[in-house]
Amino acid sequence: MFDTHAHLDDIKFDDDRRSVIESYVQSGGTYLLNASSDIQSSLNGIALAEKYDFIYAAVGVHPHETNKITDESLYQIEALWKHKKCVAIGEIGLDYYYDFSARDTQRKWFYKQLDLAKQLDAPVVIHDRKAHAECLEAVKKTGVRGVFHCYSGSWEMAEELLKIGFYISFTGSVTFKNARKTVEVAANAPIDRIMIETDSPYLAPEPLRGTRNKPENVIWVARKIAEIRNVSTEFIIEKTEENGKRLFSL
Ligand code: NI
Repeated sequence: MFDTHAHLDDIKFDDDRRSVIESYVQSGGTYLLNASSDIQSSLNGIALAEKYDFIYAAVGVHPHETNKITDESLYQIEALWKHKKCVAIGEIGLDYYYDFSARDTQRKWFYKQLDLAKQLDAPVVIHDRKAHAECLEAVKKTGVRGVFHCYSGSWEMAEELLKIGFYISFTGSVTFKNARKTVEVAANAPIDRIMIETDSPYLAPEPLRGTRNKPENVIWVARKIAEIRNVSTEFIIEKTEENGKRLFSL
């Protein structure tokens, strides 16, 4: 079982990080990708990946944090990419829902990190919140490969992404009542192009919605997708693990 997107470096895990990780392993967790939000978080993710052999790190700057970075950050990401446990650039993207950083700033750093990923031939982990058309355009223009995490776009957009080789990843939001569009994508996407994730500590799936999310809860995402596609949960777990290993070259 592969939780392809968690923020284990988050302060919400400071008190019990070790037991959260152990509990994930006991629940069947075999791989985990830690997604970063800024340079310090990238370093913390790599430190975790050094400590646990099944944990890998993505490095990069989240759109929320782009108002705090400089060109130096880009060199740091490039240097961190050389670490053997670093397997992706992310999470990077655009967030026009919260708009914590100005849109021009978000856009500028999104493109800089996409160009870097292309140059390094690194897969990217994309954060797209209420910026579907621009995110699609950006990955097409830069010619990168990777995954749209916590997918929230339409099936039509998913088809465009699938055409250019992208993977689509689902969080607990696929279990929410208002998830009609996401359920449609989870039903129709090819089995060899989907992934599951928690985005811990955020987005706890039903029936745990509202609690601090943990990697072991990725099972609820697998169960929901299995139900949508009318296959076994084990099949979804097996396929999504294979897909994650393929994209991140594990
Ligand atoms: Ni995230």
